[in-house]
Amino acid sequence: MSANLSSRVINIADLREMARRRLPPVVFDYLDGGADGELTLRGNCRAFEEVTFRPRQAIAVGECSLKTSVLNFNLAFPAMLAPVGYSRMMHPRGEVAAAGAAGAAGTGYILSTISGHRLEDVRAASTGPVWYQLYLVGGREVAEAALDRAKMAGFSALVVTIDTPVAGMRERDSRNGMKQLLGSSALAKIPYLHHFLAHPSWLAGFLLDGGVPPLANIVVPNKGPMPLMDVGAALAKAVVTWEDLRWLRESWKGPIVVKGVMIGDDARRAVDEGAVAVVVSNHGGRQLDGVAPSLRALPEIVAAVGSQAEVLMDGGIRRGGDIVKAVCLGARAVLIGRAYAYGLAAAGQPGVTRALEILRDDVERTLRLLGCPSVSALNPSYIEVPRNWNVS
Ligand code: FNR
Repeated sequence: MSANLSSRVINIADLREMARRRLPPVVFDYLDGGADGELTLRGNCRAFEEVTFRPRQAIAVGECSLKTSVLNFNLAFPAMLAPVGYSRMMHPRGEVAAAGAAGAAGTGYILSTISGHRLEDVRAASTGPVWYQLYLVGGREVAEAALDRAKMAGFSALVVTIDTPVAGMRERDSRNGMKQLLGSSALAKIPYLHHFLAHPSWLAGFLLDGGVPPLANIVVPNKGPMPLMDVGAALAKAVVTWEDLRWLRESWKGPIVVKGVMIGDDARRAVDEGAVAVVVSNHGGRQLDGVAPSLRALPEIVAAVGSQAEVLMDGGIRRGGDIVKAVCLGARAVLIGRAYAYGLAAAGQPGVTRALEILRDDVERTLRLLGCPSVSALNPSYIEVPRNWNVS
């Protein structure tokens, strides 16, 4: 499959198209879509188009180093895999396959709380760093049990997502009958069933995998793993506050990363509460629609935290050139979400491997074309941003 993929899949858009063909619409749109009018979803990608390169020509870049470190973990290139909830819907091996591909590519994987596989199995699948992303679904007691397990299993950092006081309004999910399909009424599902029959290869994998499995890492006392159907309501009661961060610092002794920061004040607050890194993120345009593209928010946050914390960013990365632009603007590394999830949905682990290979090769080629010898030598002089971005 892998060799076959390299000839057929030239860029991430090819993986997206393969995913679109393989998945039933309700699953593809869950992965591909954003909140409300999808302004921020589109804006995230467009912001990269507004930044242009300023290359140094006639320079022979010999050995080109893509290496970087994030929280003292060495990465082969400056991109990690973002938490993507319910990856097991995209492919039966879901989170296990994605973590395995990340480790093999020399980078890290962040496991979402909303996972169909046990966190121990995900950790075991990767040779690289694996971090745990926390939502407080089910409350503090449930979270503490998951954190104990994550610690025991060898997760090396905790990522606390703070942009999800409720789930965003994903209009595509409503139109595709997500609620009815996850609900218990067989009758309510009937209008949507033909979508599944039109995607037999996905359907066979899904049925052989036992259908919709419960969430293996949200274990509710006396009830067991939470059914996926209950997550929306549980998320609405699971807002993470700065007080929770104080409590988390007691429960988790390792590094804490705060994800979902969009303004300088929140970045500083996160650092004051003990975060060693922040992720500039609008959740890939899936939460508050109309918020700025992450790339535009990045300079304000880099300026706000200075050298007190590492700054990561995500949102809209579809090419390695986008990664280079984010690093030029001060990101230590980026997280990629849909870019690898399309690969997972298209072809399982080899699809994720192909996505990472494409992005890595893009980064190296971009550096050579820029006349820049290493990721660590990138700086704002290699790009030009629109004047109204107010980048100092
Ligand atoms: C996400 N994201 C996300 N973030 C998080 O903290 N916990 C989660 O469970 C999820 N789940 C999730 C599911 C799906 C299908 C997507 C596409 C995204 C957000 C994710 O971590 C990241 O912030 C965005 O995906 C980045 O944007 P791009 O790279 O997808 O444009």
